[in-house]
Amino acid sequence: MTESAQLYRLLYVSENRIEGGVADVAAEIERILASSRRNNDAFDITGALIFNCGFFAQVLEGPRDHVERIFEAIRQDRRHGKIQVMSAAEVESRQFPNWAMAYIGRSPSWEKALGWIRTDTHFAPDERCDRLFKIVMEMAYDAELSPDRTFAASGKS
Ligand SMILES: Cc1cc2nc3c(=O)[nH]c(=O)nc-3n(C[C@H](O)[C@H](O)[C@H](O)COP(=O)(O)O)c2cc1C
Repeated sequence: MTESAQLYRLLYVSENRIEGGVADVAAEIERILASSRRNNDAFDITGALIFNCGFFAQVLEGPRDHVERIFEAIRQDRRHGKIQVMSAAEVESRQFPNWAMAYIGRSPSWEKALGWIRTDTHFAPDERCDRLFKIVMEMAYDAELSPDRTFAASGKS
């Protein structure tokens, strides 16, 4: 697939519905990442998934019809709820070209940075979308540069 196909980027946030303790959540996220790596690679989708404060934030980018198809499956997933699309738009280039799905887990500094999502996402003006996207990007880049941090990534094969 060439990058001349219509590139699309979707950013959403959702609330965690995975029950159980830390180990149960970690195991479930591993399953999500395994699916993501397999499917996203096949659909030429890249992006990042963040789990923090009981919330997910995910960026999906790729050919528009593929992003919409994968997102439709993600929407139905009972492991999360209250899904809110923060932004969805055509873009010129990928921000996560090397990641079928980068994953960034909990860390105290990001916990703080993302804390505002808990209260503010229901009134998400563009400004907050931009801010969230910036945070997601910073988290991904930061994690890429510091592999010793709580970070597991599914790089593109
Ligand atoms: C927060 C969250 C993010 C997800 N992200 C993806 C994703 O990027 N790609 C994907 O294929 N599945 C993702 N999933 C899983 C899908 O909802 C679904 O379970 C999966 O696509 C099923 O594919 P499989 O039968 O190949 O495992 C996600 C699920 C959750 C809860």
